[in-house]
Amino acid sequence: MADDPTIKTLSELRVFEAEDVARLFGEVHTQFDRQTSVPTDQGRLEALRSAWLGRKSGVLTRVTENWLKTSAPALRPAVGRCLNELRAHVEQRLGELQKAAESAAEQAVLARERVDLSLPGAVRPVGSRHLLRQTFAEIERIFLSLGFTVVEGPEIETPYYNFEALNIPEHHPARDTMDTFYLETPAGAPQRLLRTHTSPMQVRTMEKQAPPVRIIVPGKVYRRDNPDATHSYVFHQVEGLAVDTDITFCEFKGTVEYFVREFLGPAAKTRLRPSYFPFTEPSVEIDASCFACGGSGCRLCKFSGWIELFGAGMVDPAVYGFVNYDAKRLSGFAFGLGVDRLSQLKYGIDDVQLFFQNDVRFLRQFA
Ligand code: FA5
Repeated sequence: MADDPTIKTLSELRVFEAEDVARLFGEVHTQFDRQTSVPTDQGRLEALRSAWLGRKSGVLTRVTENWLKTSAPALRPAVGRCLNELRAHVEQRLGELQKAAESAAEQAVLARERVDLSLPGAVRPVGSRHLLRQTFAEIERIFLSLGFTVVEGPEIETPYYNFEALNIPEHHPARDTMDTFYLETPAGAPQRLLRTHTSPMQVRTMEKQAPPVRIIVPGKVYRRDNPDATHSYVFHQVEGLAVDTDITFCEFKGTVEYFVREFLGPAAKTRLRPSYFPFTEPSVEIDASCFACGGSGCRLCKFSGWIELFGAGMVDPAVYGFVNYDAKRLSGFAFGLGVDRLSQLKYGIDDVQLFFQNDVRFLRQFA
């Protein structure tokens, strides 16, 4: 700028007295204060710093070159003092502006990132365990408390484990009640099928483990049954097996009665009815007194006062022959709970298909 006094020497400016020096510096102060009177952003601050403190052509450099270095010796102390004051003032003010600019930038970031807690949140639907899973957990809890352990087995089985080793030979009529889905297998390879019950795990466990055995086997099973209110082609069972040297029918009955009371409530009574399974002898169906009417007869129990729960029995000695267990020394019992039917009974669900339709209005009732 042509009228910028700092590009001239003191003699050019006709400053010869100390008070003129003070006035001149006063003007420069005023000019600086005017330029830095308002808060400023980082970019403008850099420009101010370079204009005033820049090494090559900043105002303070020019004052040093043009006023201090060329001043008459008599004026030099006054110029030096004023120059020091001016430098201290400029540095302090630019420092203040720097702090203000940083804090303003920080505030701007905070304002941009501010979370408005008054806005409604995103509603994330919380799922819950399926009723069948809850029934599995309840059954497992009861048998774990009796010293049973939980094992799982394959859903794809061989006819040997699903039938033969359970004393159901190829043309046995019991196979008709358990028609299933067969998998395509390469010529010469063993046949494969979807297991029709969890009982194959009786054999697989006894093959691997020496007695005593106390296991339950929760899992999915398959049958070629037509779907209706109590039948599905995929459903769930919990197998139970206990084998030891001194297991009697009394222990079997006591275990089953304890389970029924724990599962349906302390008022539930149990009845054992003769039945038939090729792998248990004797075989029974376990009935419970109807929990809806207490045994007096209602629609749920078809006015009999009893509800059929599951099949069970003492392990047939023929099965021990398939796993090299000593049938003379050992005895045991087994049972197979239909988890879907037990859930239907306990929660009053009249159609098993509801378990598989995934209608949340149904599922939510058991959350
Ligand atoms: C068996 O599957 C034997 N393995 C049970 C057993 C194990 C007996 C150990 C003795 C010793 P059953 O075919 O009756 O038995 O089936 C057992 C239970 O599965 C039935 O009581 C019923 O609750 C359930 N169930 C059978 N078929 C279906 C189906 N299609 N849909 C839903 N549940 C079924």
